[in-house]
Amino acid sequence: MLDANWRDPGFCVPNATTYPWQWLWDSCFHAICWAHLGRDDRAITELRNALAHQAPDGFVPHMTYWQDGSTHADFWGRPGVSAITQPPMYGHALAELVRLGVALPDELVDRARRGLEFLLTDRHRDGLGPVLVHPWESGCDDSARWDAWCPMPWTFDRWKVVKGELVDALVDPPDRSPRASARFEVASAGFGALVAFNARELATVVGDDGLEAAAAAVVTALDTRWDWEHGTWLDAVAVGPTSTAGVRTLDALLPLLVSVDTIAVDAAWEQVVDDGAFGGPFGPAATHRDEPTFDPHAYWRGPAWPQLTYLLWVAAGRRGEDALATDLAGRLVAGAERSGFAEYWDPDTGRGLGAIPQSWAALAAVV
Ligand code: GLC
Repeated sequence: MLDANWRDPGFCVPNATTYPWQWLWDSCFHAICWAHLGRDDRAITELRNALAHQAPDGFVPHMTYWQDGSTHADFWGRPGVSAITQPPMYGHALAELVRLGVALPDELVDRARRGLEFLLTDRHRDGLGPVLVHPWESGCDDSARWDAWCPMPWTFDRWKVVKGELVDALVDPPDRSPRASARFEVASAGFGALVAFNARELATVVGDDGLEAAAAAVVTALDTRWDWEHGTWLDAVAVGPTSTAGVRTLDALLPLLVSVDTIAVDAAWEQVVDDGAFGGPFGPAATHRDEPTFDPHAYWRGPAWPQLTYLLWVAAGRRGEDALATDLAGRLVAGAERSGFAEYWDPDTGRGLGAIPQSWAALAAVV
């Protein structure tokens, strides 16, 4: 699948028809897959291309159109790339390559560091940590956490219109790297956790105390937002409505990668594999089953996603939860096989949903 999805100048399309360009966090996951499959050259090439259009201030666009440079140029207000970013999974990808014995080009490490520094400084909001300035930046496009921005009743089409308007709400500084929004600034629990995790991973590669300290500060801010009553880390909304900041979504449990609140961690783990909460035989659902918005077939509102199950597998391994890690790996493999390596799938039946096949389902080969 990865071979078939490989394109010039060296990256995998997530899916040949639905997603025919390069996406930032997808490519970081692909690089991990390539390296585990013994194709170090492709891992490095794909990461280089994911970071190739980084702005001088460190900002990394989440999409690169390569040969189709004029596609969506009016929408983003710039040719060739998008105007927003995605979770900086390149920190983890580079650390994983080092653990596999792959030598990293200095320039790649430098770009990763500058990408993380952009998020840790230009996107930093005091007491909250790094903010998203568009829902797409989370990678979880239609999460119920963003519902407060959508006129009710929520529909897929209505939300699509709002997502377009939120691109127009980006506050465009002279150098055009997105630092703020007039309508949407959210220190999301999931995004904050991924920034801290990736900064920490990169710090292990470069031995950078500043990066490690910045990651620790993000974790401290996150851990003040554990909500006992609902059993989730809350988002902190800097700009926008707050009413859906605590909807129970799986990405809001990604602080499992970094949290130092051991009681919160135990409470979060219990829900991940509990079939009455998130758990499903083919991987945890993206939304808690008791949420009124839970729908096991709707994009980001209930299916299992391979990259989220992978990240929870990583978290379990890091915390010495070996039985849980093995359990999550088994669910990911079962889901990838049953779904035909889909973009996402039904957590209870493994029925493939979205684009099929999708490159990041190859993470099943890693676990
Ligand atoms: C969808 C997903 C996003 C992913 C992209 C390409 O937009 O929500 O996370 O990066 O597809 O696979």
